[in-house]
Amino acid sequence: MKQKQRYPAGPANIQPGERRIITIKNRSVGVFCIDGDYFALLNFCPHMAGPLCEGPVTGTVLHTDKREFIYGRDNELVRCGWHGWEFEIKTGKCTVDERMQARTYAVVEEDGELFVEM
Ligand code: FES
Repeated sequence: MKQKQRYPAGPANIQPGERRIITIKNRSVGVFCIDGDYFALLNFCPHMAGPLCEGPVTGTVLHTDKREFIYGRDNELVRCGWHGWEFEIKTGKCTVDERMQARTYAVVEEDGELFVEM
C-alpha cells in the first residue's frame, strides 16, 4: 500500500463555522474545525461537481419521532452552494442521498500547524 504524504494546511486556528480552502497536488481541499478537531474534504460535490467546501457550514434538522423540527449538529455539516445538499464534514456522507459521499482526508495537528494526509 502506498504511504500517505503530509501536506501543510496552515496554522491550527480555524474557528468553528469557518473553513480554509487550500490546494494540494492540484486539488482544492477544504479544512474545517469541529470541537477542536480538524477535518478535510475535497472541494468537489459528488452531486454535480459544485465547489462543496465553499458553501455555508451549518447544522441540520434532527430526526425525531414527533412532528417537530429540532435544529442540531451546528457546524458539523457543509451545504453545497449549488443545490443545497448537505454533507457531514467528519465523514463526507450526504444527508440527502446516502449513496453520495464526498472525499475526505485525515488532518493532523503538529506544533500548532495543520497537515492534510493524502
Ligand atoms: S452540485 Fe452540490 S448539491 Fe448539486
